[in-house]
Amino acid sequence: MQTNPIEWRDGELILLDQRRLPDTIEYLRLDTAPQVRAAIEDMVVRGAPAIGVTAAYGVVLAARAAYAESPTDWRDNVVAAIADLGEARPTAVNLRWALAQMQAALPNVDPVPTLLATAERIHRKEIAANIAMGEHGANRIAKVAGSGTSGRTHDGVAVITHCNTGALATGGSGTAFSVITTAYRHGQIAQVFACETRPWLQGSRLTAWELKQNGVPFELLVDSAAAYLMKVRHVDWVIVGADRIAANGDVANKIGTYGLANAARRHKVGMMVVAPTSTIDLATPSGDAIPLETRSSDEVLGLAAARIAPPGSAAWNPVFDVTEAGLIDVIVTEKGVIDLPNAAKIREHLQA
Ligand code: MRU
Repeated sequence: MQTNPIEWRDGELILLDQRRLPDTIEYLRLDTAPQVRAAIEDMVVRGAPAIGVTAAYGVVLAARAAYAESPTDWRDNVVAAIADLGEARPTAVNLRWALAQMQAALPNVDPVPTLLATAERIHRKEIAANIAMGEHGANRIAKVAGSGTSGRTHDGVAVITHCNTGALATGGSGTAFSVITTAYRHGQIAQVFACETRPWLQGSRLTAWELKQNGVPFELLVDSAAAYLMKVRHVDWVIVGADRIAANGDVANKIGTYGLANAARRHKVGMMVVAPTSTIDLATPSGDAIPLETRSSDEVLGLAAARIAPPGSAAWNPVFDVTEAGLIDVIVTEKGVIDLPNAAKIREHLQA
């Protein structure tokens, strides 16, 4: 079944409610900016590029309301709505990147047509970037593994992925997920392992669902099994997305990525990060400066609707971590591949 996680239709923003997947396919129709902020905060939509695209459409809704209220005095309300949407989640820089573009596009006349065109352009660019990243990443896998590019081979590479980086996280074919599906179609991948990704289970609920839809066979792992998997079975690559890449190549991504990178280095497994250039933030010098979201302890103390830990338990729930550039072998963007990333290579890559 083809599902569209983010759609602008007949003046409304329609979001697939990712909290209910894979069992229930339900779309929410949003027509105000505060509803959009709440949908991002509450994980109706998640994934760095997807929340950027969603927030851009949120600005269109804010502009429509502000212009209807006052065709002369709408600007301050739209600027306030942009600031409010920017607070929805702190780590993914794509959110602020998209909102900065919307703010820069504010015209002097009726803002709705211009802002809608800008939001649709941001959305289209993410979709195109996803396809390009899939090809660049798949080519890079082929280079290292020396595997053929036609006809599936059982000698193909084995990869571990983490969290969800597919259509649900981007609105297109995905970041890391696009590399995996593209490489699988090219016959390069023999085995995909997906980490379940506690506490929201983006791996077992969303990535498993999307891999099935794409006809890619996989095995799920509890997050704590990944390091041992690298020790006792053959794994070639860990392939993940990113929520923010600092100017020096440090990467913030879903909690657990740092552990995967350390285990990958220990076991000589390649570490590939796949993200559009909208995820690279030159204004953040290093990973130390990336704001990392911590969410409610309830997400750890329970599972779905069930409470697991005894009442009164405390929990720490950081939802992202930072992996330093030195642990990353390759960053893939829509522009190509950065091997052994550092500040100079990232600057050069963005200028190319
Ligand atoms: O908390 P989430 O589900 O928004 O976290 C998503 C991730 O960490 C993804 O790996 C990341 O956004 C990059 S892939 C699009």
